[in-house]
Amino acid sequence: MNEPLISTIDLHHSFHNRGTVLAGANFQLFPGERIALTGANGAGKTTFLHLLVGLLKLRQGEIIAFGQSRKSEADFVEVRARAGLLFQDPDDQLFCPTVLEDVIFGPLNLGKSRKEALAIARDTLSELGMSHFESRVTHQLSGGEKRMITLASVLSMQPDALLLDEPSNALDDQAKTRLIKTLQRLPQAMIIISHEQDFLQQLATRWVRLEEGKLISIPETPQAT
Ligand SMILES: Nc1ncnc2c1ncn2[C@@H]1O[C@H](COP(=O)(O)OP(=O)(O)OP(=O)(O)O)[C@@H](O)[C@H]1O
Ligand SMILES: [Mg+2]
Repeated sequence: MNEPLISTIDLHHSFHNRGTVLAGANFQLFPGERIALTGANGAGKTTFLHLLVGLLKLRQGEIIAFGQSRKSEADFVEVRARAGLLFQDPDDQLFCPTVLEDVIFGPLNLGKSRKEALAIARDTLSELGMSHFESRVTHQLSGGEKRMITLASVLSMQPDALLLDEPSNALDDQAKTRLIKTLQRLPQAMIIISHEQDFLQQLATRWVRLEEGKLISIPETPQAT
């Protein structure tokens, strides 16, 4: 049987002035899966993804990613290189002056040559229909444009798994359709957080809901979140 790429055992997390957010979350992401992660606003979905990649400190429970239990910052540096996180807010992700520099940053950082990185960045932008944005100034882009560019910068790292925090936010119908097609074509396992049922329905192979700090399996056509 396939080993999970990422799993959590009895994960807990609380914030000082909020209290318990995760209260024993158990989870597994297997190769080839596209998991729809749903849950009310404030349920802890973003918190969960941030714990998986070590952006929040693991205090209680276990995270096993790519075959190893992950605890130290060095462990999570590797997890972040292999699990591409798309931030819920694109402004947390874009930090270079121009689009091309942002998209090329990941592959360069992973040790690709400038030529290779450029080819990957251009292919990725083209796949997303964003080639003509190469020279644009990132902070001047619209919300939906920023969303597509952040996706390009995550995909250009060619990660083994994708952790997508509300990828369809701010996208118009055309961009959303293109995104669905792109994600359907990708071989990587992914977690997709979204409040949009129709978007998730076109992608998800399994549905999970975060409720009262736990991750529960739900049927394919759940109630609106
Ligand atoms: N750094 C923080 N300090 C204190 N409370 C926080 C912090 N980050 C998140 N929270 C709180 O933890 C809870 C979970 O937040 P989180 O962002 O994970 O929710 P979410 O399920 O992603 O919600 P949404 O659907 O609105 O994006 C919320 O009540 C939020 O206010
Ligand atoms: Mg969130």
